[in-house]
Amino acid sequence: MDSANSERSTELLHAQAHVWNHIFNFINSMSLKCAIQLGIPDIIHNHGKPMTLPELVAKLPVHPKRSQCVYRLMRILVHSGFLAAQRVQQGEQEEGYVLTDASRLLLMDDSLSIRPFLLAMLDPILTKPWHYLSAWFQNDDPTPFHTAHERPFWDYAAHEPQLNTFFNEAMASDARLVTSVLLKEGKGVFEGLNSLVDVGGGTGKVAKAIANAFPHLNCTVLDLPHVVAGLQGSKNLNYFAGDMFEAIPPADAILLKWIMHDWSDEECVKILKRCREAIPSKENGGKVIIIDMIMMKNQGDYKSIETQLFFDMIMMNFVTGRERDENEWEKLFLDAGFSHYKIIPILGLRSLIEVYP
Ligand SMILES: C[S@@+](CC[C@H](N)C(=O)[O-])C[C@H]1O[C@@H](n2cnc3c(N)ncnc32)[C@H](O)[C@@H]1O
Repeated sequence: MDSANSERSTELLHAQAHVWNHIFNFINSMSLKCAIQLGIPDIIHNHGKPMTLPELVAKLPVHPKRSQCVYRLMRILVHSGFLAAQRVQQGEQEEGYVLTDASRLLLMDDSLSIRPFLLAMLDPILTKPWHYLSAWFQNDDPTPFHTAHERPFWDYAAHEPQLNTFFNEAMASDARLVTSVLLKEGKGVFEGLNSLVDVGGGTGKVAKAIANAFPHLNCTVLDLPHVVAGLQGSKNLNYFAGDMFEAIPPADAILLKWIMHDWSDEECVKILKRCREAIPSKENGGKVIIIDMIMMKNQGDYKSIETQLFFDMIMMNFVTGRERDENEWEKLFLDAGFSHYKIIPILGLRSLIEVYP
């Protein structure tokens, strides 16, 4: 074979491998979900030292016929960085599994665990709409979720306790992790405020942490009635069942965490206008605090950009929203009558944005 032909064959096989890799990308997600459901990270964590395969198999709730297959699941989890292999004892050849930073975030009882987020996103209710994406491109339903489930996401959540519960738990788990960083790296944002409304604040994890960190700050969680039903406030935290498109209780500052990306530009401008009506002038401390993504352009690494693109696709799939770049954010703020904003990049793939009247 001449060298041009051999180069062409190499390219062809490379292209085939790329296609295969993308066809089977979901196997990473599903293998991880399986490992979480079997409690593998928890079992290894509780073992307290590198855990050999036979030790793990002995503790796993699997049928004896499946014991031989555990190694194959473990191998892909090591490859994808959720587990690592380490010598069981110094000087010995035998290796055992240990957790990585990523799998520590998926432990059942860890206060920073985002296990509920993983289980929610990979639940069949939320994976079904992906099969309807191309159908949605050809119909006029608001979202692929709507095409798959015949109603909007928020309506489904209001009427199906299963989705309502796992979605709220998923959001609460993200909120715990973000708040732990926010209160370390961005505490100044809340200093000097007397009142704060967390709009679309879910079950109140963020507001609770802020209320605890600032005992003189009165925090209110505004969310839909089915989300806040039966939740108990405390001295400086209360719950308010309402609709952010209708009215937002007055406060020095409004927090919008992971809200704007759920909604179209027109809907975001409406929400921001309601926020502006609820806060005092900038001189009197009024501001809106947003936690959301700002889409990177060329400045991000391959994986970060891909993860942001995943989120944008998620928004397209479930709701009417999208992820936005800085110019798109700025346009929303100006259209809603705000004068300027400040980006505080302390939250990884997301940012903290202060928006001033
Ligand atoms: C993506 S979740 C974010 C929850 C929370 N802010 C967090 O980040 O953990 C969006 C929230 O907006 C709430 N929501 C949706 N429509 C709403 C409305 N019209 N008025 C108030 N809250 C609403 C949902 O119930 C949900 O709790």
